[in-house]
Amino acid sequence: MIGAASKTLFYALSRSARLKRLASRYGMATPDSFARRFIAGETLEEAVVVARTLQSRGLLLTLDYLGESVRSIDEATTATRAYLTLMDAIVAAGIERNLSLKLTQLGLEVDRATCVDNLRRILDPGQRDGFFVRIDMENSPFTQVTLDVFETLWQQGYRNIGVVLQACLHRSEQDVRRMNELQARVRLVKGAYKEPQTAAYQLKSEVDEAYRRLMRVLLDAGNYPAIATHDETMLRTACAYAAEHGIAPERYEFQMLYGVRRDLQTTLAAEGHRMRIYVPFGREWFPYFMRRLGERPANVGFVIRGILGERSE
Ligand code: FDA
Repeated sequence: MIGAASKTLFYALSRSARLKRLASRYGMATPDSFARRFIAGETLEEAVVVARTLQSRGLLLTLDYLGESVRSIDEATTATRAYLTLMDAIVAAGIERNLSLKLTQLGLEVDRATCVDNLRRILDPGQRDGFFVRIDMENSPFTQVTLDVFETLWQQGYRNIGVVLQACLHRSEQDVRRMNELQARVRLVKGAYKEPQTAAYQLKSEVDEAYRRLMRVLLDAGNYPAIATHDETMLRTACAYAAEHGIAPERYEFQMLYGVRRDLQTTLAAEGHRMRIYVPFGREWFPYFMRRLGERPANVGFVIRGILGERSE
């Protein structure tokens, strides 16, 4: 229950314009600033440097140009252009061609058709240049529409896309079944948002149990699922299940967020597992950052130390 309470608190704080201004002032100001633990930088150049370093350590990558909940078509167009620029930069830098994005960043809340067009503008050159594009999952009011957009594009023949399903949601069991029917690639996460009781399990133990169940179903289906968690016990359960059922390590991957459990990222990669790091960058880092604090309130300590340290300089 502590987890649910902290998610509620940090979700509320993530909507505070004042806090956002304060955090933006201190969070990324210097190379040691507190937000840099989770965010690769505010610029594309900084993200490419981080991506190169991770790749040189044998880690796989997905780059996320941060942004969500845009309120106008212009903003959605700007975000789409930013993704196209990012793709050019990735190709030029020779780093892995893998993106993560959010549909509300491409205008889903403004106009669904525009959002789909924007996504196609990314998927078309992406298909040509060998990019894989993962559609992140936002909070439950967007679950159905996100899956609908995904299916529309899937039915149109796009295969360089994947979705995310959240174990916390009651509906995910049936969504996993549907995605398996389509043979679509699923990233399984526990769920980062505060959700109502009607939509989601409220106890961590229930979410973990659902995660274990869905993970097994996805591994059995064999459509290269991404097991995205920092939960070491869960990851060891996945390894044991795969080994017992003769599922080779090339048939799935693990994913973790930049800056979280770096020790475990390296250990699993060294053991021969595919480990993809989700690398977020961009100026709109505040809501993403607040979700990371909400997942682990102990993180607030290092933020406070960071702010006090920078102010005393
Ligand atoms: P859990 O919360 O049980 O944590 C397990 C352990 O991991 C903790 O004990 C701690 O050691 C460590 N840990 C977890 N979070 C931490 C943090 N913030 N800081 C420091 N340590 C931490 N969600 C979503 O709703 N939609 C999405 O599209 C995505 N996409 C996504 C991509 C990838 C690659 C990952 C890894 C995660 C997501 N998520 C997400 C987030 C996900 O839903 C979830 O909120 C976080 O992964 C935290 O849950 P864990 O599975 O790590 O387990």
